[in-house]
Amino acid sequence: MLVKERLFTPGPVPLPPQVIKALGQQIIHHRTPEFTKIFKETKEKLKKLLKTERNVLVFASSGTGSMEASVLNFFSKGDKVLIINAGKFGQRWYELAKTFGLNPINYEIEWGKTYNKDRVKEIIENNKDLKGILVQHSETSTTTYHDVKYLGDLAKSLEDCIVVVDGITSVGVYEVYPERLGVDVLITGSQKALMLPPGLSILYYSEKAEKRLDISDLPKYYFDVKKESKKQSEGQTAYTPAINLIIALNESLSLILDEGLEELAKRHEIMAKATREAVKSLGLKLLSESPANSATGVYSPDGINADDLRKTLLKIGFRVAGGQDHLKGKIFRIAHMGYFDFMDVLQIISGLELALNKLGYKVDLGKGVKTAQEIIFSNI
Ligand SMILES: Cc1ncc(COP(=O)(O)O)c(C=O)c1O
Repeated sequence: MLVKERLFTPGPVPLPPQVIKALGQQIIHHRTPEFTKIFKETKEKLKKLLKTERNVLVFASSGTGSMEASVLNFFSKGDKVLIINAGKFGQRWYELAKTFGLNPINYEIEWGKTYNKDRVKEIIENNKDLKGILVQHSETSTTTYHDVKYLGDLAKSLEDCIVVVDGITSVGVYEVYPERLGVDVLITGSQKALMLPPGLSILYYSEKAEKRLDISDLPKYYFDVKKESKKQSEGQTAYTPAINLIIALNESLSLILDEGLEELAKRHEIMAKATREAVKSLGLKLLSESPANSATGVYSPDGINADDLRKTLLKIGFRVAGGQDHLKGKIFRIAHMGYFDFMDVLQIISGLELALNKLGYKVDLGKGVKTAQEIIFSNI
């Protein structure tokens, strides 16, 4: 029997037809006025996405490339930084900080929880020499949302502290405007809500962060923000760009801006809420106490390994993600970011009901779907 594979993983995510079409074009050369025109256009759209007038950089790399660039360009050896470490990607900030000789305060948080505001305040009060706070806006491994505005406001009380935000699964899901949030460095990646294949990372930095470029003493070559910034302001890149991905980004940004940023955030909010309420109505427990709208992490019922549940889902046409590290086999994650709509939510919930029944966890067929339908209906 034919079974279609539907991608519900939190990256990569499905591609819109307009993006597939753009990706399928013959390549053009990058040292041409033709490429410069497209690149400049794309960068203008990135500015609109982040509501900024600053030069937003595009690198040919996965998202981690821009995480590394953030550490290399805006800090120096021995700089004291606070890491909000609440999952796999918070841990990545910590490892990057250690690798490049910063002095990180590793605030470890139980997976599935967000940071405690009083605790962060206390750390900041006791460390007036803090040079940075590094955090995920949406911690994908635990599907948890962290309030970055609160951190942005707190950082203002310090003499010289920047807030560095991994927005890899928040940009294109929420309205993420760094200048309103008090965020100094914001990065994202292509294979999430920007609805592209992997291969591009994007980096915004504030005026305050820019001052660090002249004093940072860490070695850098490819990820040299100063060098790249100069080239990109001229509509070129220092090294060979991911040409076709940039052309496709130009397309996907048009889709995003045409939908409208407020509308887009609302769509994600409704999809995530409908999913959360539907799984709860089936008696399942959410992983996160502060759930993000990018993806929903859910505990598999007692006695059912989450990876068996995922295999059963795959057999009927749904690829969802599993848990990472100690959550492996315990949870599964359903993505909402990017090219998803309300009917996709109904499909995956319907599939989940079938898979659960197949594995002996009896749920009333249609119960979760009805819950999701009611939420969607009351919001459209
Ligand atoms: C929040 C977050 N940060 C960082 C990364 C790493 O990005 P990449 O795998 O593109 O290097 C991911 C990837 O899933 C992510 O979700």
